[in-house]
Amino acid sequence: MRAVTWQGVNEVGVETVPDPTILNDHDVVLRVTRTTTCGSDLHLIGGYIPAMRTGDVIGHEFLGEVVEVGPGVRDRRVGDRVVVNSFVACGHCWYCRQELYSLCDNGNPDPGITEGLWGQSPGGCFGYSHAMGGFAGSHAEYVRVPYADVGTFVVPDEVSDDRALFASDAVSTGWMGADLAGTKPGDTVAVWGAGGVGQMAARAAMLLGAEQVHVIDRLPERLEQVRRHVGAEVIDYSTTDVMAELRERTGGRGPDVCIEAVGMEAHSTGVQGVYDQVKQQLRLQTDRPSAVREAILACRKGGSVFVLGVFAGPVDKFPLGAAMNKGLTLRGAQVHGQRYTPRILEHMARGELVTEHLATHVMPLEDAARGYRMFKDKEDGCVRAVFLPHG
Ligand SMILES: NC(=O)c1ccc[n+]([C@@H]2O[C@H](COP(=O)([O-])OP(=O)(O)OC[C@H]3O[C@@H](n4cnc5c(N)ncnc54)[C@H](O)[C@@H]3O)[C@@H](O)[C@H]2O)c1
Ligand SMILES: [Zn+2]
Ligand SMILES: [Zn+2]
Repeated sequence: MRAVTWQGVNEVGVETVPDPTILNDHDVVLRVTRTTTCGSDLHLIGGYIPAMRTGDVIGHEFLGEVVEVGPGVRDRRVGDRVVVNSFVACGHCWYCRQELYSLCDNGNPDPGITEGLWGQSPGGCFGYSHAMGGFAGSHAEYVRVPYADVGTFVVPDEVSDDRALFASDAVSTGWMGADLAGTKPGDTVAVWGAGGVGQMAARAAMLLGAEQVHVIDRLPERLEQVRRHVGAEVIDYSTTDVMAELRERTGGRGPDVCIEAVGMEAHSTGVQGVYDQVKQQLRLQTDRPSAVREAILACRKGGSVFVLGVFAGPVDKFPLGAAMNKGLTLRGAQVHGQRYTPRILEHMARGELVTEHLATHVMPLEDAARGYRMFKDKEDGCVRAVFLPHG
């Protein structure tokens, strides 16, 4: 079959690889109908995530049709139209029973690398390096999905492929951030980053009852999407002092909840930005944490900061003093998608959660290298490139 593979730092290719087969009783094989780029893939392609090998199939946000079912699978049938969570989780271990699916003890069959980095290993993720389980990704004609009863969800007829696709990762991640940050009715929420993840965090916060939601970015086409399709307020950080503006909009108090949806390749204007960039390029630090710093400084005393953006290692100039003295709650996580997907599909079916606008560029799988270039450089207003493996 044809698949999109990692070919070294900043190199993506399309090549023929072996077809997937059922390896475990609980697997299904899916015919991929739609698969899309995620900000996390940029960190991977940029060489910031360890243990990628040339020829690894990438991609983790996808939708498809079940074509083969392992003998241990109970609830899925050939022909089911399903959306699949990006993280692989067993559904039975202690973490899965707490609904902390991305922390699954069985989802990563190769936990040694991340145990070395972080002390313990989170679960595995499709197409996200041998540190995260070494699973072949979804940018392919077919993909093997382990623990299919846990990680796949049948899409209701009322929800289109274009909409359901993003329940896989962008929406579930955004929803988790708003939920686990403790968003309550009446809260003010600020979100850094207006990519798919930030937009969906903002929408989730609104559906959870937030009274005011502000989204921060510098790309005008994305801020326009936030206004039109999400219904939140926007702040352009290239022209506005974000801290002062948030204070102004919250009567001097600051947001109750701050959600960071930017990650390790954040842009920054000041000296700190140049310093972070040089250190990252010399591989002296893996991450550029400028949006996390700002979120911690902007948050109201006693508020909550949630890091959705992906980070890999230690960071510099982390404002621990502000976090401690302001009594902040600081959390982060890879997505516990299985916990939120049923609810998300219901909101999608009722038309309360729309995502079609995120798919700014739809193309055949063969054009993936072009799609990634556009997505990386945010060219032509690209928010997500969606690949169609079967035309
Ligand atoms: N926790 C998870 O499970 C999970 C899941 C999916 C994605 N992610 C991560 O979430 C982050 C966002 O993903 P995405 O797909 O939306 O990415 P994206 O690249 O499409 O969007 C990132 C946005 O951040 C903006 N930005 C850059 N610097 C900024 C700054 N200093 N302040 C405000 N905005 C800034 C960019 O202009 C861009 O619009 C990435 O780090 C990705 O790896 C995490
Ligand atoms: Zn992702
Ligand atoms: Zn588990």
